Amino acid sequence: MTFDKLAFKTIKEALAQGTGKVALRGWVYRERGSSKLKFVVLRDGTDIIQCVIDRDKVGDEQFLLADKLQIEASLRLTGELTKDDRAPTGHEVKVDAFEVVGWSHEFPIQQDQSPEFLLDKRHLWLRSRKMQAVLKIRATVFKAFREYFDGQGFIEFHSPIFQATQCEGGSSLFPVKYFEAVTYLAQTWQMYAEAGIFSYEKLYTIAPSFRAEKSVTSRHLTEYWHAEMEYAWSDFKGIQDHGEGVIKHMVKRVLESHQEELALIGRDASKLRPVVDKPFVRMTYDDALKLLKEKCGMDIPWGKDLRTVEEDKLSKLYDVPIIVTEYPAQVKAFYMKEAEGRSDVVQGCDFIATEGYGELIGGSQRETDLDVLKKRLLDDGEDLAGYEYYFETRMYGSVPHGGFGLGMERVVSWICGLDTIKDAIPFPRTPTRWTP
Ligand code: 4AD
Ligand code: MG
Repeated sequence: MTFDKLAFKTIKEALAQGTGKVALRGWVYRERGSSKLKFVVLRDGTDIIQCVIDRDKVGDEQFLLADKLQIEASLRLTGELTKDDRAPTGHEVKVDAFEVVGWSHEFPIQQDQSPEFLLDKRHLWLRSRKMQAVLKIRATVFKAFREYFDGQGFIEFHSPIFQATQCEGGSSLFPVKYFEAVTYLAQTWQMYAEAGIFSYEKLYTIAPSFRAEKSVTSRHLTEYWHAEMEYAWSDFKGIQDHGEGVIKHMVKRVLESHQEELALIGRDASKLRPVVDKPFVRMTYDDALKLLKEKCGMDIPWGKDLRTVEEDKLSKLYDVPIIVTEYPAQVKAFYMKEAEGRSDVVQGCDFIATEGYGELIGGSQRETDLDVLKKRLLDDGEDLAGYEYYFETRMYGSVPHGGFGLGMERVVSWICGLDTIKDAIPFPRTPTRWTP
């Protein structure tokens, strides 16, 4: 029999069909058998299904081949689909004929393996149902970000990855030898978007950003996918509204299309419902300090940045994200605009996820006063050379503008309820891991 001309269905399509003849292809997810029957749970990009190979039906020669199948061997098969409540997805295929496409060596991943081993074998662990579910959700999150901003009339705009200056603090820069010079991997697209908004007005991107943060935590990567937006004529409230709007849209899309995946990874989806249905909590930094003191007994001196512990305490007080605004200027980046009538705080906002997942978004209205910008850079110990192009953006018809950056893996990790951000990206990069 030739398998080349068959109309293969995905396993999901076959399950929807329910009964009848099917042709399937995929990989061995599990196998067990006796001298007469071989049970193969077949996996493809969509689902799993039990297939049974009967010696009496396929003959001795074929059955010997079936008996040698190991986990992850690839197969094509035809058979009769029936309902069977005992099978993992409620169906079974009684195999008429099969063909081994690729034999498998003994698969190195067995049950209960350590997280480090699974990271060493990430190129194979990607085949796990957990990673499959998480990365499908990730794809929906990316699509939903684009959908939201396309729908709002924003256009996608790209910045260089090799950049000559810092934007988010010199200590987390990755220097790169660039012929005779040194450049840095992008920490953000922002400063280039600030040039772009004077032409296109409303911009967004999704691109890798790099942070040389030495700390190994459950929420930091050295390379992450950064979804950013920037627009002309913004006001501080509008920036927060877009942040809330896009997070709601991403969560809504995941809830609409990934109930199965959420169940598979054990995520309690009801925890995400309020994020879509209720307004986010908005409070100033000053209010956050008050709340931390009154409700959590934490006394933070004014002027200190909120640390992970404080953010986590705050996040547990609500079932929706919190937007904290008007941070002390001293803890925030040089480009954030001073608040109206108060030079000690800036119009910057951090979005703090629920359930202790930390900062999802950092954004601000941008400083347009050149003297203030230069002073803040100098206060940070920066050399103004290299920022000329940025200063020039303010010299020809400057307008109020602003935007934010959202960490895609932070969002995926939170939506999926993951233990570590490393499982929110196919091949994570951290201070101690750069392979595979
Ligand atoms: O708060 P950050 O540093 O803000 C900026 O980079 C601005 N230039 C963005 C802008 O206004 N266009 O980073 C933005 C977001 C954070 O809120 C966080 O979600 C994520 O990027 N992020 C990281 N995600 C994973 N690993 C890291 N090391 C991250 N650092 C920041
Ligand atoms: Mg930040």
